[in-house]
Amino acid sequence: MKSFWQWNKVYKMQFIPYGKQLIEDNDIQSVVDVLTSDYLTTGPSVKAFEEALSAYCNVNYTVAVANGTAALHLASLVLLKEGDKVLTTPNSFLATSNAILYVGAKPIFVDIAKDGNIDLDLCEEALKSDASIKAMYVVAFSGNMVNQKKLKYLRDTYNVTILEDCAHAIGAKEGDIKAASCTNSDISILSFHPVKHMTTGEGGAITTNSKELYEKLLILRGHGMVKTPDMKPWEYEMRELGFNYRITDMQCALGSSQLKKLDSFIERRIELVKAYDKAFQDSMVKPLYTYDGKSSYHLYVVQVDFSKLDISKEELFHKLREKNIGIQLHYIPINKQPYYKSLGYGDEVTPVMDKYYDECFSLPMFPKLTDEEQTFVINNLFFCIIEKDLV
Ligand SMILES: Cc1ncc(COP(=O)(O)O)c(C=O)c1O
Repeated sequence: MKSFWQWNKVYKMQFIPYGKQLIEDNDIQSVVDVLTSDYLTTGPSVKAFEEALSAYCNVNYTVAVANGTAALHLASLVLLKEGDKVLTTPNSFLATSNAILYVGAKPIFVDIAKDGNIDLDLCEEALKSDASIKAMYVVAFSGNMVNQKKLKYLRDTYNVTILEDCAHAIGAKEGDIKAASCTNSDISILSFHPVKHMTTGEGGAITTNSKELYEKLLILRGHGMVKTPDMKPWEYEMRELGFNYRITDMQCALGSSQLKKLDSFIERRIELVKAYDKAFQDSMVKPLYTYDGKSSYHLYVVQVDFSKLDISKEELFHKLREKNIGIQLHYIPINKQPYYKSLGYGDEVTPVMDKYYDECFSLPMFPKLTDEEQTFVINNLFFCIIEKDLV
């Protein structure tokens, strides 16, 4: 009889990505209903989705937009001006700091803490030594909110503008504070890309408690155009250089349908997290952080000290891909990207980020992942790491 390891060498499953949407019949029906209605865009489904998001995130205002990057761009237009200095993290998707560049402001990359989020103590040092720093763009990396007490302290003490990029974190909470509630920030953004907790295909949203910012964002989303009841029937005025960052009613109907299931999606993620945590206990695979009830786990990130193993990170990626397992690396430090290097970035001292980049990767984490698939991922990860000892 073949041993597990011999069997496992030839056994393959269908490709298991690191993240994937879960679309059900009622989601599809919600989109079909809009397609046969009068409004495909700027209709009632947009407003309904925005209101549902505001209620879920416990925030006053939400503006739904074409994607998370558009959300970051509009947020930057209302928060920043050319030349502003902005502290941000190298451990994010490119869009976070790109948005700072879009408006001619200047990202300053700060090292991360052990949990993958920006190091707020280092941010404080920077704020102390340079009073001209205008803002901080922080990311609730992997679904783990940035420490709210410290964020409040920095905001109160240094009068710094704060954007929370919650693209990974809808559904997360720290005590009573929900992700994207803007309790200790000026603006938060969300993304509804299919790998995220819930999807609208492409899609994003901006949340804020400021009426003034909300009204500006609405105008910028639609070409900078304003139409008021006192105007003549054909009149509209362009008051700003805006964009078309609208989201369709079909997408918003899908979003509202998905939002109703979000808590159950997160519950399944937590089940998977607990199973991963248990499997990796006392092993050389270290979870970036173990379950503590706060993160909504967009990503499940593990850390492996490759210097102690016979396999390199690259080999591990190839070997798991051969088994149809799509692990992924979140993220390559943004400041080390060629474009950023061409702007003079890349030499920042970021030892924690450097170690993170050497050792960390994300395992499959999405509500549709079955227990069987998860076990397959865990076994193959261990198998690749200790294979030498088993053959
Ligand atoms: C942290 C973060 N911010 C912003 C974005 C941009 O969102 P979108 O892909 O919806 O434009 C992403 C997308 O991956 C992200 O991970």
